Amino acid sequence: MRHQDLPDGPILVTGGTGRLGRLVVAGLRARGAGFRVLTRDAERAARVLGPDVALVQGDLADVDPGGFARIFLLSPIAPDIVEQQTALIRRAGRARILKLSGSDWTLGASWSGNAHQRIEAALRPGDLAVRPSVWTQGALAGMVAQLAQGDSFTSSRGPIAYIDMRDIADAVLALLLAETWPANPPVLTGPRALDRAALAGLAAEITGRPIRGVPLSLEDQAAQLATSGASPFVQHYLGDFARLMHGDAAAAVTGTLPALLGRPARDVADYLREVL
Ligand SMILES: NC(=O)c1ccc[n+]([C@@H]2O[C@H](COP(=O)([O-])OP(=O)(O)OC[C@H]3O[C@@H](n4cnc5c(N)ncnc54)[C@H](OP(=O)(O)O)[C@@H]3O)[C@@H](O)[C@H]2O)c1
Repeated sequence: MRHQDLPDGPILVTGGTGRLGRLVVAGLRARGAGFRVLTRDAERAARVLGPDVALVQGDLADVDPGGFARIFLLSPIAPDIVEQQTALIRRAGRARILKLSGSDWTLGASWSGNAHQRIEAALRPGDLAVRPSVWTQGALAGMVAQLAQGDSFTSSRGPIAYIDMRDIADAVLALLLAETWPANPPVLTGPRALDRAALAGLAAEITGRPIRGVPLSLEDQAAQLATSGASPFVQHYLGDFARLMHGDAAAAVTGTLPALLGRPARDVADYLREVL
């Protein structure tokens, strides 16, 4: 298929070989949009994305963003995420940036949320940040793995408005291809907040098994993380998330995604039916 650039040029996708970025790339491809993917390892990226995706070899810190109409800005939580992303924002020229930010409730309340907040503050008029809540597929992977072994799972979390990664990708795609953007950062969530008991109930309904959600204390969770081989940095930022999700910080549901896409957000039940 011939790929059609936006009127003022193609899209530069960063983080396109990662978990969310791959879905964005698949969507742009299906829509026939003109885009290139920034990668530090073109050989690996071609294996991951397929040989027909146009690549730009480089790093956030040294890529030349000239000639692009829009940039999708995503990179993993890393000690230098603020420096990396703001370096690209400073050099973006006429390209308008759509930044994948942290969850709304982490901003000002956690290591990574504070980093995302500083990056958002560096965005220019006409750029936009998107703030998705907790990603269903990542956050529930542990529960799914435990239920493959038995009828119980452990969780330290309170109610969470999990959002399906496919919905985030659809929202990102809609925004990347839209002529105008909203004035404020869209706060994207799933359709309802589910706590441990609600997740257990759903899993029981889907599997027909007597599933139990067993409470896990923050102390026990931190101890598990400490022996998992995670670096002190990873332990620190995951510890922040765990503390926030233990309460009801991540419970708020917004109508932003349905308004943006003109359809309801996917429910956790849809995902669990696919994987349990
Ligand atoms: N998981 C959640 O619940 C959640 C919620 C809200 C926000 N977020 C945000 O989502 C982001 C992570 O997304 P993800 O899990 O999809 O990412 P990911 O899979 O960990 O990685 C995305 C890609 O980033 C690229 N990358 C890494 N360092 C780079 C650099 N220095 N320069 C250029 N590219 C670089 C890598 O591509 P190459 O190897 O090809 O270069 C990698 O494939 C974070 O910013 C996080 O705060 C996550």
